[in-house]
Amino acid sequence: MKKPLLLLSALAALGSATMPADDKPLYMDPAQPVEKRVDDLLARMTLEEKLSQIHANSKFTTPAIPRLGIPLRWLSDGPHGVREDIGPDTWKPQNRTDDFATAMPAGIALASTWNPEVAYQVGEAIGQEARARGKDIMLGPGVNILRTPLCGRNFEYMGEDPYLAGRMAVAYIKGEQAQNVASCIKHFAANNEEFQRMSINVEMDERPLREIYLPAFEAAVKEGGVWTVMGAYNKFRGQFASHNDYLLNKILKGEWNFQGLVMSDWAATHDTKEAALNGLDLEMGTDKPYNEFYLADAYRDGLKDGTYPMSGLDDKVRRNLRVMFATGVFDQRPPGSLNTPAHQAVARRAAEEGTVLLKNDKAILPLDPDKVKSIAIIGENGIRLHAHGGDSSGIKAFYEISPVEGILRKAGSKINVTYSAGYGKEIGPDAIDRAVAAAKNADVAVIMGGLNHDPGFDCEGHDRKDMKLPYQQDELIRRVVEANPKTIVVLFGTIVEMEEWIAKVPAVLQTWFPGMEGGNALANILFGDVNPSGKIPCTFPKVLADSPAHKLGAYPGKDGTVTYDEGLLVGYRWFDTKKVDPQFPFGHGLSYTSFKYSDLKLVEGKDGTGPVVTAEFVVENTGKRDGAEVAQLYIHQAKPALERPFQELKGFKKVFLKAGEKQTVSIPLDLTAFSYYDPAKGGWIAEEGAFTVRVGGSSRDIALTAPFKLAKTTLVKR
Ligand code: GLC
Repeated sequence: MKKPLLLLSALAALGSATMPADDKPLYMDPAQPVEKRVDDLLARMTLEEKLSQIHANSKFTTPAIPRLGIPLRWLSDGPHGVREDIGPDTWKPQNRTDDFATAMPAGIALASTWNPEVAYQVGEAIGQEARARGKDIMLGPGVNILRTPLCGRNFEYMGEDPYLAGRMAVAYIKGEQAQNVASCIKHFAANNEEFQRMSINVEMDERPLREIYLPAFEAAVKEGGVWTVMGAYNKFRGQFASHNDYLLNKILKGEWNFQGLVMSDWAATHDTKEAALNGLDLEMGTDKPYNEFYLADAYRDGLKDGTYPMSGLDDKVRRNLRVMFATGVFDQRPPGSLNTPAHQAVARRAAEEGTVLLKNDKAILPLDPDKVKSIAIIGENGIRLHAHGGDSSGIKAFYEISPVEGILRKAGSKINVTYSAGYGKEIGPDAIDRAVAAAKNADVAVIMGGLNHDPGFDCEGHDRKDMKLPYQQDELIRRVVEANPKTIVVLFGTIVEMEEWIAKVPAVLQTWFPGMEGGNALANILFGDVNPSGKIPCTFPKVLADSPAHKLGAYPGKDGTVTYDEGLLVGYRWFDTKKVDPQFPFGHGLSYTSFKYSDLKLVEGKDGTGPVVTAEFVVENTGKRDGAEVAQLYIHQAKPALERPFQELKGFKKVFLKAGEKQTVSIPLDLTAFSYYDPAKGGWIAEEGAFTVRVGGSSRDIALTAPFKLAKTTLVKR
């Protein structure tokens, strides 16, 4: 018996896409292959219905089609959790009471864990919360390479190295998409500054594009199986990235055989012809009435008069439907879960493993709760909450533990904890004096400093103007450590200059933006309940001028164009090749214990199958505390035909070792690890000749090296 259309429409409009079993068409049968379901549904759709699925009908949705049981489709930010509900037709939050969520640490903190297992868990938890909130596509992770320390969105991304960013993104995507939610790798591509982000044209040579700016996206597509890609705002070689023929048609869909959908960034679509023909499948956020979107009325007119082929529309719709079927939109999906202790535990673990111990002279850390009787906490970031900031990646956290709260919980009544602002936007002229007095009267002073999500610091839509600590923090730190040599500096946010005080401060922790559990994670580390194991995923220059893009005057660009003159030499690739000493090198991070590397062996692969060579070496925990070490492997090529950086990260493994324990670590290397992109050959080559495998605890702390020869030059299939 057919259900009256009205009831069916009501059901479908509510997003319950079930059709009556007796009328079950092929596309509703989950036992059918996805492609058959796509074909069947596509064949049933009218032109209007097809058009309705390739552009938004609100800030974050595409419309239901009750006749076909296609539900309302929800997209949601972002990389750090499920954003509060916005709109529907404005950027104003809806101020609901049911959209609090778990706020994970920022992307750069996740990258600092160097632990794909943690990335998987973060993705999985966010995917479960997305299901619980009824979201179908989650707009993360972001992997744009840290080319300048000033980019306002560096906090959201995964640092300066494409290999590390790719490993972490692949794990995150697998965790999230296992929850029947599509991830969205963004922003494709070359969106490495917020300066004029909506219009700036990015120019770069083919090798940096292939070897630096694309690999994390390539890994997300080829290994992560990511279902959606977000085009960037900027232009690339003169064409907007969200409808860029070279990036989308030639590379993403052509060379990489991407089968999912490409969406625009919000208001990143500018032209119907390009949107129709250059690989855009879903237009979002255009600042126009929905029917005036570039892929709406104008596109329909072009289809009807033959300007654009119907096959192009069908391919766009096919990709949207494929993502829907692949993520179970028409089928039973897990209900998900929201704000659970399990998710909060993941947030805490990510914050703990993402916090980096940059310096720890005379083992001033960890604090001994039995010996320390008083702590002076100083600095606005001691009480300031960050999870909700940063713009689109901000999360309305179910709760957020500040450092002061985390330390008070841990200290209990045993330790006298004082707080003084020390610095901040609205503080008195005597703030530093008061902080110095507090430090003088305490056993230990902990300065909670760094940046925040105010525009002009770590915030989308704006770049920073310099790499300095704001609000006279340099003076504050100098005077506090003078008053109390037992001063620890904890830095929130991204890279800052430290030269004015680093020599005098015995201990520095980099905690980035640690999410809702940040205060607990920090307290656990300060008191030694957790041994820090993070490593910085980016170089900390001594001064901004040492950073390649700034040294070469290649930032922020002028007259609407920025040219990446540093080419391949981004981050440590520059510092190591040009022999410039950083404040802290890529991959640096200390522990409360110590590690020893030994016995590096290179085991060659057999008869061309599997890895070309496997690096095997021993890591030993030579200290008295259990801990984790991120063993890193870099490749150096002695005489490449084309310029290469001094060394490139091609493997890493985080090993957890009890005090005194040792473990053999194996890192397999295939030809890709030795290869570089040769534009003349239009592909990757692994060149015959001498290489050196370099292993250690950071890019500048290489403990072991071994020579390796490739017997012949090979064109490498990726
Ligand atoms: C923003 C961001 C993008 C975000 C989107 C939706 O401008 O660039 O990362 O997902 O719009 O909020």
